[in-house]
Amino acid sequence: KQDLIIAIDGHSSTGKSSLSKLIAKQLGYTHIDSGAMYRAVTLFAYQNDLIEGNKVLVEQLVPRLEEIFIDFRYNTANNLNETYLNGVNVEDEIRGLQVSSMVSPIAVIPEVRDYCVALQQKMGENKRIVMDGRDIGTTVFPNADIKIFITASAEIRAKRRFLEFEREGKTISFDEVLKNVIERDHIDSTREYSPLRKAEDAIEVDNSNLNLEQTVEAVMKIISSKK
Ligand code: C5P
Repeated sequence: KQDLIIAIDGHSSTGKSSLSKLIAKQLGYTHIDSGAMYRAVTLFAYQNDLIEGNKVLVEQLVPRLEEIFIDFRYNTANNLNETYLNGVNVEDEIRGLQVSSMVSPIAVIPEVRDYCVALQQKMGENKRIVMDGRDIGTTVFPNADIKIFITASAEIRAKRRFLEFEREGKTISFDEVLKNVIERDHIDSTREYSPLRKAEDAIEVDNSNLNLEQTVEAVMKIISSKK
């Protein structure tokens, strides 16, 4: 069997990560959630008072990027590849609304992107990976063997995220979640440096009316047809 790089890009809350995890598992590949890196950088900025209100202190953050070390460690107890920031497990903390609401402004900073992209490219050196994000098929691995672009309506995506928060016992209004989804879409697709867009050779999958299992099936079909 060929060793592949599979790039899965798309809008926020399309279930890209869950999808990529399952695809990687079926193929015996490693899954890398590139968004977790931008989230970890955002958490670092919070921890070091480099965010004031909703303003990022860009000039102060950029020289401190070299202090950031991000890695993923596989937790056999829950079968998750968990995110570590400077040796500390931050998997839960980076998923909350505080980090979610500031991650897109952090991800527009070119130096932050260069830092994360270099790390992502290094993790893909040995192929056999499924990486999900916004610019994997366009910038990180323009020569990826398979490129998928996942999308769904904003309302459906917000509803999924809302139910997820609810399951975790977090009380956040649906409107707040929808606002965050729309805001992130806007910032991600209009930023100047490496914006979110479908690569020309990516295959689009709209999963508004598909559950996770059906989305996995659709994507596995695309992968098999291209292998
Ligand atoms: O995928 P996730 O929603 O966790 O990503 C969080 C944020 O990180 C996105 O909204 C986007 O602003 C940024 N991101 C990015 N490029 C990537 C992955 C994530 O800009 N490859």
